[in-house]
Amino acid sequence: MARIQAARHVIDPIFLDTPLYRCEALEAALGCSVSIKLESVNPVRSFKARGTELVASQLADRGERAVVCASAGNLGQALAWSGRGRGLDVAVVTARSAPAAKLERIRAFGASVELVDGDFDMARERAVAVARDRRIRLVEDSLDVETCEGAATIGLELVDTGPAFDAVLIALGGGALATGVGHVVKARAPEVEVICIQPLGAPAMTRSWRERRVVTTDSTDTIADGVAGRRPIAAVLDDLLLVADDAVLVREESIITGMRLLLDHAGLVVEPSAALGVAAILEDRDRFAGRHVVTILCGSNVDMDAYHRWVGIR
Ligand SMILES: Cc1ncc(COP(=O)(O)O)c(C=O)c1O
Repeated sequence: MARIQAARHVIDPIFLDTPLYRCEALEAALGCSVSIKLESVNPVRSFKARGTELVASQLADRGERAVVCASAGNLGQALAWSGRGRGLDVAVVTARSAPAAKLERIRAFGASVELVDGDFDMARERAVAVARDRRIRLVEDSLDVETCEGAATIGLELVDTGPAFDAVLIALGGGALATGVGHVVKARAPEVEVICIQPLGAPAMTRSWRERRVVTTDSTDTIADGVAGRRPIAAVLDDLLLVADDAVLVREESIITGMRLLLDHAGLVVEPSAALGVAAILEDRDRFAGRHVVTILCGSNVDMDAYHRWVGIR
């Protein structure tokens, strides 16, 4: 907790103290009290810079010049932003299929992008090789504790500044967001239910949490590219087992309906991963009825053509 509190003094304030508000306009559609924690209104349009600010400042303090990460897109964009401000040469390895909007922004912040055939987990393998060959620091999202501590600052803002709430809905990918926020919530407000959400088409970490051992899958099939991993990291699962009360899987149709509801009732464009919380409420209204639920809207980097197709704008 002390390190997470200290992180607030390292992270650029532009990423901190993000809006947290009751979104009454969504409540009729969802049947419960809903608060939004909005993590998409910043220069990288996701929460990931909270972690990369810590990583990049440590590297700069040590006089290091270069860093590499594998990314589904948002970590890479965030590391590119944080590295640029500190004179770091940032290399990002990503799947060729990553959204063009994410790749474009990574390059715009001055990082190099290496595309691999395959998915995020193949990009992870390639990034390990790049770090070894170039003898530079590899940032491993969710495994490197700074990525979790950065995300955990969201948890501090939830418990310190928000009204009381009953549950927090957290998109689950590698697990930095869920373990970070979950750690703070369980330390400071243990009665609050910590619920992680993944798509049915990318269920590896959820299955691992349920079986209390790492379960991998052969492929993923979801529009929620930010959470589409096949190979959970054992150490992250250990942490998740300590802080998560539940992990649920949602259908693609619910993710799309969630994105549409957030546009129509909250005026917010979000990427699919950020609609997982709303999707979870849609699929289990009885569970949440009469309760106050916080959902973290964790990113809005989305290819607009795809977005328009999903939400039905012509
Ligand atoms: C928008 C968005 N939501 C959720 C996640 C999942 O976060 P984590 O990998 O920390 O579990 C990511 C990961 O990059 C993301 O970009």
